[in-house]
Amino acid sequence: MTMAAEKSKPAAKTQYKRILLKMSGEVLMGEKEFGLDSKTVNRVARDIKEVIDMGVEVCVVVGAGNIFRGVSGAAEGMDRTQADYMGMLGIVINALALQSALETLKVDTRVMSAIPMSAICEPYIRRKAMRHMEKGRVVIFAAGTGNPFFTTDTTAALRASEMNCDAMLKGTKVDGVYTADPQKDPSAKRYESISYMDVLTKNLKVMDATAISLARENNIPILIFNVRQEGNFAKVMSGAGTFTTVSDK
Ligand code: GTP
Repeated sequence: MTMAAEKSKPAAKTQYKRILLKMSGEVLMGEKEFGLDSKTVNRVARDIKEVIDMGVEVCVVVGAGNIFRGVSGAAEGMDRTQADYMGMLGIVINALALQSALETLKVDTRVMSAIPMSAICEPYIRRKAMRHMEKGRVVIFAAGTGNPFFTTDTTAALRASEMNCDAMLKGTKVDGVYTADPQKDPSAKRYESISYMDVLTKNLKVMDATAISLARENNIPILIFNVRQEGNFAKVMSGAGTFTTVSDK
């Protein structure tokens, strides 16, 4: 593991050919308390287009915390599986919103749902998703893994593995992984890189253990970055900007 020093890497072309972007649903609500903020969705779409224009194949997994959280539904007495299915439907709403925003920018997209709902999007078929990506289309994977008890982080690690992605980018509200919560502990330091195992053993809560283990097994580096800053996605893709890499290197 290495700690972050003052870093000002020069902007360069990206080393990645195919990546998966994982975004929490909360990102899409901008400053709102619930739902979708169209300005933010459009901004995220512009950020994705910027990366597409670098020649990278991009697929996306989005969460649904801006609409419904399965875990909190379950905490309020709802059956966990039922709550998780509601969360998966929330993801489909976010996926369709992102698809519209990307299409406005003339970016070809396909939404593929793990739970077939063929009137509104394609069912997830791995080989078909591969072809879409090879054709430069942004594939948005909706409805999680289609199973309750799995997070969208795990979905992201699963789809990144299935799509043979070179990296998984986790867009959050912080610019990397810290030794402690930087909002509570001012002495918290950001890791520039950290191993999968250290994330697990230090219980750093970057992602759930299933997602980290899956990424580790398939040797997919995870880049944690702040997706709320406009242009940051492309910056991170080119190796500039501030982020933390989780890998075994
Ligand atoms: P190619 O095979 O590369 O031509 O891919 P394509 O996606 O352009 O062709 P296809 O004929 O499969 O799809 C044409 C349009 O129909 C696209 O916008 C797809 O997203 C959409 N589409 C394909 N399958 C389904 C489906 O099962 N349900 C829904 N709602 N739309 C679909």
